Amino acid sequence: MAAMADVRTAHTSELSPAELAAIRSLLDDAFEGDFSDDDWDHTVGGMHALVHEDGELVGHGSLVQRRLLHAGRALRTGYVEAVAVRADRRRRGVASAVMEALERVLRDGCYELGALGAADEAVPLYEGRGWRQWQGPTSVLAPAGIERTAEEDGGIYVLPYVAVDLDGELVCDWRPGDAW
Ligand SMILES: CC(C)(COP(=O)(O)OP(=O)(O)OC[C@H]1O[C@@H](n2cnc3c(N)ncnc32)[C@H](O)[C@@H]1OP(=O)(O)O)[C@@H](O)C(=O)NCCC(=O)NCCS
Repeated sequence: MAAMADVRTAHTSELSPAELAAIRSLLDDAFEGDFSDDDWDHTVGGMHALVHEDGELVGHGSLVQRRLLHAGRALRTGYVEAVAVRADRRRRGVASAVMEALERVLRDGCYELGALGAADEAVPLYEGRGWRQWQGPTSVLAPAGIERTAEEDGGIYVLPYVAVDLDGELVCDWRPGDAW
């Protein structure tokens, strides 16, 4: 494991332009060019967890507030975005340390639900930490009404702090780019 990864948490507003640029650069590299400006839009505006080694950023994740509709309620949700570890520092527990910090914000931040859209390679990381796969149908509350996001079914993981029915419907709020 990483030698007791030193995790810093900070709101976007506390980060300098240079620190934000370092995060964007890490994400562009880690997602191998598959990280869009919309993905960046989803990354900012909440709390970041940052891991530095030798003065360089090697791990990141952020938690932004969204509302997810479920069983007639609008759940205050901490949505995990942009979890990434520099390629040469993987499988040493850095992402686990990032998630631990974000889960602390979730737990202490009055959220009712944690949620995220998992990349296949990250599923063991989340499941190993107790995140549960959403089994029911997913949708988005688009400007013209609720639209199914069938391609996302099975890829959404949650950490609930209130009773939820994992087989029920889950609807996310609208935003540019990927809904989930
Ligand atoms: C997915 C990702 C964030 C994981 O980061 P990481 O720092 O390697 O993750 P961790 O080391 O905390 O844990 C991941 C795995 O490594 C294992 N691991 C941790 N320390 C280890 C060690 N010393 N030796 C071997 N395995 C170890 C964990 O148990 C876990 O294993 P598993 O997947 O078989 O269960 C990273 O691979 C990445 O940035 N990928 C590209 C971007 C991406 O897909 N992000 C996820 C978006 S949802």
